Amino acid sequence: VTTTISIPVVFHVVYSNSTENISDAQVMSQLEVLNADFRRMNADAANTPSYFQPVATDTRIEFCLATLDPNGNPTSGITRTQTSRTEFDYTNDQIKSSSNGGVDAWDRNRYLNIWVGAIKDDILGYATLPGTAPARLDGVVLHYATIGAAPANPFIWPYNMGRTATHEVGHWLGLEHIWGGDEPSCSDSDGISDTPNQDDYTVGCPSGIQLSCNNGPYGNMYQNYMDYSDDACMNLFTKGQADYMNAVLSTTRKALLN
Ligand code: ARG
Ligand code: ZN
Ligand code: CA
Repeated sequence: VTTTISIPVVFHVVYSNSTENISDAQVMSQLEVLNADFRRMNADAANTPSYFQPVATDTRIEFCLATLDPNGNPTSGITRTQTSRTEFDYTNDQIKSSSNGGVDAWDRNRYLNIWVGAIKDDILGYATLPGTAPARLDGVVLHYATIGAAPANPFIWPYNMGRTATHEVGHWLGLEHIWGGDEPSCSDSDGISDTPNQDDYTVGCPSGIQLSCNNGPYGNMYQNYMDYSDDACMNLFTKGQADYMNAVLSTTRKALLN
């Protein structure tokens, strides 16, 4: 099938100062990164090593800003909410609740909710896997400093190319971390057959072949968006990951396609 799916997104910008109240242009930059990465139109696709190119793919999933809000009124797809909270704790999801200084989710059957704010404890972002959260908590949370690509995003190198969103939306569409989850461990898996077994997450941006778990000759796929490598080091989803995400969109998250 060559059908392309477009998912309406709402960015909920929750801010306590003007730095956190990121611009529309920065949000648009993030949307462009998401679309480039998911459609394999990313400028650095050529950095995928030749031995991983055969499994690298366009997922045929793309993202657009919502044009109608839940009441049917026109929207830019960006909500802006001033809060008295200077930081949000990822363990209690207050950013997702207007009665707690955040903003309530829009209907998850119609939108991907992406909350943007000052998240505590060096958390870049987090997401709910399909079928794991109540509707009011379903979506992605991103630290405001990860949004968009440089120069629109002037903030935290090496996470200033907008790939935290790519990674978190991968989770929201069902993908696990590429090393499986336990660390270090060769006996767990991400459940995807064309990502090499890998014992632990990657830090920074290595070069060449990094072997673990007898995964020679090509080694760890640290260029995968579902690793923890630097943004500049990431450049692919695999066919197995794309198939998995499309399967989620035809099952658990199928309401979004109507
Ligand atoms: N630590 C976060 C997570 O597990 C995000 C990691 C994002 N990595 C990046 N290079 N932007 O979901
Ligand atoms: Zn993750
Ligand atoms: Ca695998």
